[in-house]
Amino acid sequence: MEQIINLLVNQIKDKNQIKDLEDKLIIEKITKYFLTNGDIRKKLEKEFSKKENKIIKSKNFKEIVKIIRKEIGIIYGSFLTSDFDKREKYLEQSNNLEDTKVILKLHKSTRERVDFYDEIFTKIFNWKKPNKIGDLCCGLNPMAISLIKEKLNKTPEYFASDINPKDMDFLNLFFNKFNVNGFAKSYDLTKLDILKEKQFQDCDMIFLFKALDSLEFIKKNCTKELIQNIQSKNIVVSFPTKSLVSKKEFKIEKRNWFIKFIEENNFKYETFEIENELFFLIEK
Ligand SMILES: C[S@@+](CC[C@H](N)C(=O)[O-])C[C@H]1O[C@@H](n2cnc3c(N)ncnc32)[C@H](O)[C@@H]1O
Repeated sequence: MEQIINLLVNQIKDKNQIKDLEDKLIIEKITKYFLTNGDIRKKLEKEFSKKENKIIKSKNFKEIVKIIRKEIGIIYGSFLTSDFDKREKYLEQSNNLEDTKVILKLHKSTRERVDFYDEIFTKIFNWKKPNKIGDLCCGLNPMAISLIKEKLNKTPEYFASDINPKDMDFLNLFFNKFNVNGFAKSYDLTKLDILKEKQFQDCDMIFLFKALDSLEFIKKNCTKELIQNIQSKNIVVSFPTKSLVSKKEFKIEKRNWFIKFIEENNFKYETFEIENELFFLIEK
């Protein structure tokens, strides 16, 4: 079975956008797939005993590659621009924090809001002023720290997290290069282990920008449990109002479950909207 899984991982990663994604994350998805599709696992094992490496041409094998790639695309790959690889080079070329703003354009979510950060941070920091931000499912949003600094007149401490460890290495390089009091560590937010992370526990404002849809796609209701258990009282959640990939507008009703959830929990909240993004400022 291990050989089949290795072949699957290699084939799945044979796509530019996800070539740097940690194998462990892909293996987890394959294992989960086989747990619920035992019949296909058995068929593949039988095929492998006859064809060995030629199995990559079989219908079942190709189908699994397609399914897992689609899942990874929805939660990770589809948000990366084709220039995502250039982030290290741009960081190297940056002489000061302000120069790093260009890196925001290498991830589709930050690229889309790059002209709106001023408005976003004005609204958020008029509401509350954090000492330490916890940025979850962060993508490249921590690269907006110089803009945060402009609005807050100080650089807050920063804890950043997303799913791929290699992306967290890059953010730690960035924090170190510019002496930001920041730390990045990968966590899978469909699980709740992040709640035990010391660096996360003392954050007094949490960002969950455009994060909930991906998490809910993998595990329904997991974001409710996460938000209920986050220690920080202040949480900023955003949703896309248009699909980043297809550009199709989302119906406002798509967010009703979330409004119902915050009202049921008696959280105070206010909202504001910029082009393509709806923000909730939540006080627990
Ligand atoms: C639409 S992007 C938003 C990125 C960033 N928050 C922003 O708005 O600029 C969604 C992010 O969630 C991350 N993600 C998806 N599933 C995740 C999971 N299970 N655990 C942690 N992060 C995840 C993706 O890697 C991606 O960076």
